[in-house]
Amino acid sequence: MRPRRSLLFVPADRPDRVRKAAGLPTDAVIIDLEDGVDLSRKDEARRLAAQALAEVDFGSREVILRTNSPGSPFFAADLEALLAFPRLPDTVMIPKVERPEDLEAIAARLDQRGIACGLIPCVESARAVLDAPAIARAGGRNTGLMFGGYDFSADIGAANEWEPQLYARSRVVLAAAAAGIDPIDTPYGDFSDPEGLAEWCRKSRRLGFVGKCAIHPSQLEIINAAYAPTPEELQWAQRVVAAAEQQGYGAINLDGRMVDMAVVRVAQRIVAVARRTGMLPGDPTREG
Ligand code: COA
Ligand code: MG
Repeated sequence: MRPRRSLLFVPADRPDRVRKAAGLPTDAVIIDLEDGVDLSRKDEARRLAAQALAEVDFGSREVILRTNSPGSPFFAADLEALLAFPRLPDTVMIPKVERPEDLEAIAARLDQRGIACGLIPCVESARAVLDAPAIARAGGRNTGLMFGGYDFSADIGAANEWEPQLYARSRVVLAAAAAGIDPIDTPYGDFSDPEGLAEWCRKSRRLGFVGKCAIHPSQLEIINAAYAPTPEELQWAQRVVAAAEQQGYGAINLDGRMVDMAVVRVAQRIVAVARRTGMLPGDPTREG
C-alpha cells in the first residue's frame, strides 16, 4: 500500500519534465496523454510515454498513465499503445468515465492480455457523479477514484469554488469508501496561490480524501503535509490506542473525554495513515 498524498501530472510530450518529476517529492507521477497534451501531439505523446516508462527510474513512486477518455477518438490508440509498452505503468487513470460498462470493457481487455495494472477512473461530470458508486466498483481492478473538479464544474455550469462542488466531492469519497478504494482529489490550478491550495487541501482531507493531484512542483510539499496526520493528531491517536490496549476496548475516560471502540477506530485509522505515509514504520493495514 504505497502512499498517495500527492500525484503530480506531467504532460507526456515533455520528457524533460517527466524526468524531473521522477526526482521530486511526489508519491505518484501521472504521465498525461489527455488534456495536458495538444490535440496535434497525441501520437508523439504516446511514443514519449513509452520511452519514459522504459528509461526513467521513478524510484518508489507510483507511475500512472492517464489515457484520453473512453469517449474520445484517441482512446483506442492509447490502449493499443499501452498494450505494447515495453514497461507498464503501475496504474492507468481513465478520465471522464461516464459508464461503468466502459471500465468493465477496459478491465476485460487487460485481463485478456494478462496485464495487471490497477485502474483509477475519474469522475468529472454530472452523470459520473450520480453513478459514482457503480463506477467505483466496475471492472474489479480499481484502486482509486478521482474527482475532476474543473470538468465537473464545466459540465454542470457551476462555479469552480468549494461550495458548488461539495456534494460531488462527498459523493466521490462515499463511493470510493464503499468500494474500499482511495478517493483522490482534483488538482488546484492556481499554482501561485499556496495559501489557497493549503486551505483546499485541509478541507478535502477532512472530507476523507487520501490525497490530491498536483500540477506544479511547488505544490508538493503543501499537499504532502496536508494529507498526513499532524504530529498532534498522531500523538493523540497513539495515546488512544495505548489506553484501549491497557484498559480494554469498552468505554473509558481519557482526559475527561469518552473513548470507546468507535473512537479507537478513528485513532487506528490515523495510525494506519501515518504508517502508509512513512511517519511511522510498519504495515499500514495493521490495526493500532
Ligand atoms: N512536472 C515536473 N516539473 C515541472 C512541472 C511538472 N508538472 N511543472 C513545472 N515543472 C518544472 C519546470 O520544468 C521548471 O523546472 P526548472 O526550474 O528545472 O527549469 C520548474 O518546475 C518551474 O516551472 P515554471 O516555469 O514555474 O512552470 P511553467 O510556467 O513552465 O509551466 C505549467 C506551468 C502549468 C504549464 C506546468 O507546470 C505544467 O505543465 N503542469 C502540468 C499540467 C498538466 O499536466 N495538466 C493536465 C492535468 S490537470
Ligand atoms: Mg479533467
